[in-house]
Amino acid sequence: MGLPLSPLPNLLAIKNALRYFPTNIQHSLIAEFQNELKQYGHIYMYRFKPNIEMKAYPIDEYPCVCKQAAGIMLMIMNNLDKRVAQFPYELITYGGNGQVFSNWAQFLLVMHYLSIMNEKQILIMYSGHPLGLFPTRAENSPRMVITNGMVVPNYSSSADYERMFALGVTMYGQMTAGSYCYIGPQGIVHGTFITIMNAARKRLNTNDLRGRVFVSSGLGGMSGAQAKAAMMLGCIGVIAEVSKEAAEKRYQQGWCSELIDDMDNLISRIKECKQSGIAIAIGYLGNIVDVWERLAKEFDQSKELLVDLGSDQTSCHNPYYGADVGASHATSHCIKFKYPSYVQDIMGNIFSLGFGPFRWVCASCSSSDLAETDRIAENVIQELMADKNVPQNVMEQYEDNLKWIRLAANANLVVGSQARILYSDQIGRIKLGLAFNEAVRNRRIGPVVLSRDHHDVSGTDSPYRETSNIEDGSAFCADMAVQNAIGDSFRGATWIALHNGGGVGWGEVMNGGFGMFLDGSEKTDQNIREMLYWDVLNGVSRRSWSGNANASQTIRRAMEVESNLNVTLPNNLSAECEKMLRNDV
Ligand SMILES: NC(=O)c1ccc[n+]([C@@H]2O[C@H](COP(=O)([O-])OP(=O)(O)OC[C@H]3O[C@@H](n4cnc5c(N)ncnc54)[C@H](O)[C@@H]3O)[C@@H](O)[C@H]2O)c1
Repeated sequence: MGLPLSPLPNLLAIKNALRYFPTNIQHSLIAEFQNELKQYGHIYMYRFKPNIEMKAYPIDEYPCVCKQAAGIMLMIMNNLDKRVAQFPYELITYGGNGQVFSNWAQFLLVMHYLSIMNEKQILIMYSGHPLGLFPTRAENSPRMVITNGMVVPNYSSSADYERMFALGVTMYGQMTAGSYCYIGPQGIVHGTFITIMNAARKRLNTNDLRGRVFVSSGLGGMSGAQAKAAMMLGCIGVIAEVSKEAAEKRYQQGWCSELIDDMDNLISRIKECKQSGIAIAIGYLGNIVDVWERLAKEFDQSKELLVDLGSDQTSCHNPYYGADVGASHATSHCIKFKYPSYVQDIMGNIFSLGFGPFRWVCASCSSSDLAETDRIAENVIQELMADKNVPQNVMEQYEDNLKWIRLAANANLVVGSQARILYSDQIGRIKLGLAFNEAVRNRRIGPVVLSRDHHDVSGTDSPYRETSNIEDGSAFCADMAVQNAIGDSFRGATWIALHNGGGVGWGEVMNGGFGMFLDGSEKTDQNIREMLYWDVLNGVSRRSWSGNANASQTIRRAMEVESNLNVTLPNNLSAECEKMLRNDV
């Protein structure tokens, strides 16, 4: 069913855009807006892009009534920094069309509202549009509530999106674009780093990848992180890339240590590196299919297996349109692929322990503050590891955390704001938040903003990615992401966001996200304890209810510590019932 549109959609789009301007100047903008709509299919209002350099400025440089609002402004400015943003003129941070706002008038209006906002006000955002400042009595209310791309479910097709975006009434915010929490490529490097380590742990029984060969493909926007992660892991990374331009970009950036375009040379180089055990990221200029065929041939001929781990990060994996989709169970909606996705196989179980993409931004914009937070984080991880009651599967993740935080400082990962990512569990996130807030209180560092992305335990309902290992048929339900945002909002988030589509596309996923401003106060300590607790354990509880053993272990541990936590646990199906049901089916 199509979307009921005005018979004159162009007229409506221009009228919608002109609403932002006083009547006496509207006539001077019509031709320009008509032209933008015709040329680009959307009115971006380019002329209102500010002339100042767009980047995260230190927090004290923003005009403001309350510091929380200044923290939000800093994060917005970072998302529009040309070193960070993919298409800064179109207000797009990443992912092709992940908008911060829909047009530059919205940017100016939001910055104005934030600069005059006081602590008894809340700014409401409708898909890029600032609806306005509203009074709020709640002491702990967020300063900003953002929704992006919320539509009535039957109208969530790509065609519906195109039309509504052209009209200027909706926007695709990806996730950290429209919720102002993007920290550049560091997030994907860390995500890749821990995915490879957990893959190695599962398949090779070790997380020490020195001398091991990791073969994959894609040196593009996101996939290029594989080379950097391989280097940081100390393994022999071989990443095939058909685009010379993409491969050279990664080489010049230093993420690839060498490029090889000849298959025989590649094979002898792999053998050499295996012998010497050096850490290297080789970009192979060619097709990944040829690499796999040659590796198979080498094995057939010499029985020497030249690869330990394999992956693929070209864009060819889309399960809807290309992969080998096996049986789709009528009652449960469970889908089994020939090769399980990395979430089904690896990361789903890590999410179920509560680990996810916790990150922080130093609002002073000072690299020494970031270095201090790295030191604090290292101490916190060591404290966590000193607890003898930590289960082995959690301890392994802490070990990976320690490895990452020790490497990250010197890995040249900061682009834009002074930020760090560290996959942490509920206990770790709260401990880290409290330790940072204490450092802010003691003036060892300036204020800090906490956040996360969507690749997480609770915030995202994404049946083909983050929730693809939920096997009770609820993978297509979005209660968790919505509850996540609602729950964060009254537990102390500084801003919250609810999105249609972050990560895998419009209509395919719901994400809830947050930002939290650490000002060093006691009240913020309480917010950290309550909000981060919910932000992780909401999803752990749901994953436990769906039958995941790691989630069950995690939520039971949490209930032992907190008497006010009382989660519904699933009963095991008796062997007799299982047999009866199988016989029936
Ligand atoms: N949204 C996220 O959070 C996220 C994060 C990581 C990855 N991803 C997914 O990973 C995939 C890759 O993302 P990207 O940004 O790197 O895309 P991209 O298009 O920039 O890069 C993919 C690269 O693969 C290369 N390629 C294609 N077929 C090849 C082949 N047969 N052999 C060798 N190289 C080949 C292409 O030339 C291209 O450079 C996408 O599907 C993306 O959705 C998404």
